[in-house]
Amino acid sequence: MSAPDDFQDRMLALGLGRVAEKAALATEDLIGRGDERAADKAAGAAMETELSRLDLRGTVVIGETDTDRMGVGASVGNGDGPELDVAVDPLEGTTLAAKDLPNAMSVIAMAPKGSITQVPNIYMEKLAFSGTYAPDTVTLDMTPTQRIEALAKAKGCAPKDVTVCMLERPRHMPMIDELRDTGAAVRLITDGDISAVINCAEPEDTGIDMYMGSGGAPEGVLAAAALKCLDGHFYGQLIYRNEDERHLARSFGNRELDRVYTRDELVTDHVIFAATGVTNSSLLRGMIRAPRYVQTETLLMRSKTGSIRRMSYRIPRTRS
Ligand code: FBP
Repeated sequence: MSAPDDFQDRMLALGLGRVAEKAALATEDLIGRGDERAADKAAGAAMETELSRLDLRGTVVIGETDTDRMGVGASVGNGDGPELDVAVDPLEGTTLAAKDLPNAMSVIAMAPKGSITQVPNIYMEKLAFSGTYAPDTVTLDMTPTQRIEALAKAKGCAPKDVTVCMLERPRHMPMIDELRDTGAAVRLITDGDISAVINCAEPEDTGIDMYMGSGGAPEGVLAAAALKCLDGHFYGQLIYRNEDERHLARSFGNRELDRVYTRDELVTDHVIFAATGVTNSSLLRGMIRAPRYVQTETLLMRSKTGSIRRMSYRIPRTRS
C-alpha cells in the first residue's frame, strides 16, 4: 500500500496483526457457547478498540451488518496518519465459532482510501485459482465441466487430479454433481470461504486447485485482498435474489451490476491483510486455550512486497 513512507507502512502492517489477534482473543470465552451474535460482537468491539490505537484515518468499507460496531461508514483509527479503506470480518465463521468447529478466524485488510470496492451483504459468485496459471485459464462464464477441463489441461493432469473446494449448500448440489461427473474431487466445507479461497493460492501445499460457488460478497472482497498478496486469481460477480438487492448494490455505488470483477478491480491498490485463527483450519492454528496461557497464530501479508509473515503470540493468563 502507498502510505507516506515505507517504514510507517510496515509498522502499520504489524499493528494490523495485533488488531486481528485481539479480535480473535475476545471470542475465547464464547467459543462453543452457541451464541453467534455474542461472539461476533465481542470480536468487533475488540477490533475497533485495537484499531483506535493505530495511526490511521480509516473508514470501514466492508464491515459488520448486524452489530453496532464496525459497520460500513464507521471511522476507525486514532485520526492521525494515512487515509485508508478498512475491510473487516471480526469473526469469519460465526456459526463455526459458536459450535467450536474448525475454520473460524478474525480477518482485516487495509488499502489506500478509495481502493477497496464496497459491496453490500449479498451473495457473490466466486472463482479462485493459483497465480501459477494464466489469469484467463478458467473463467466464470465457463461451465463447471469446462473449468475442470481447462484447469486439468493447464496443470498437465487428468480431471480426476483436480480438487475443487466449495461450500456445502443445497444451491450448490447441481454444480457439485457436475464436477464429480468429470472425475474431479470436491472438498466440501460447512462455512468460512475466505480461508478456502486463500488455500487455492498454494495448491501444492493445500491440495485445493480451485474454489468456486456463491458465498458472501463481503467475504469475496476480503478473499480478493488476500489473493492479491499471494498472487492468486480471483473473480467475483454479485448475485441478486430480488430487486431490493439490486437496489442495495446501486446504493453501494456498484454501477455495472452484472460485471465480473477481477481481483485487482475489487482491490485496486496495495493492500495489507491479517487473519488470526479462532478455531483450527488448514490455514491457521486456532487459539490454544491452556490453563496458564492463551496463544494465537496470525497470518500477515503485504501485497506491495509479497511478504508473508506468521506470528505466534502467547500471553500468560495471570498478566493479561
Ligand atoms: P459468517 O461468519 O458471516 O456467518 O459467514 C460465514 C460464511 O460461511 C462465509 O464464509 C460465506 O461467504 C457465507 O457464510 C456463505 O453464506 P451462506 O451460509 O448463506 O451460504
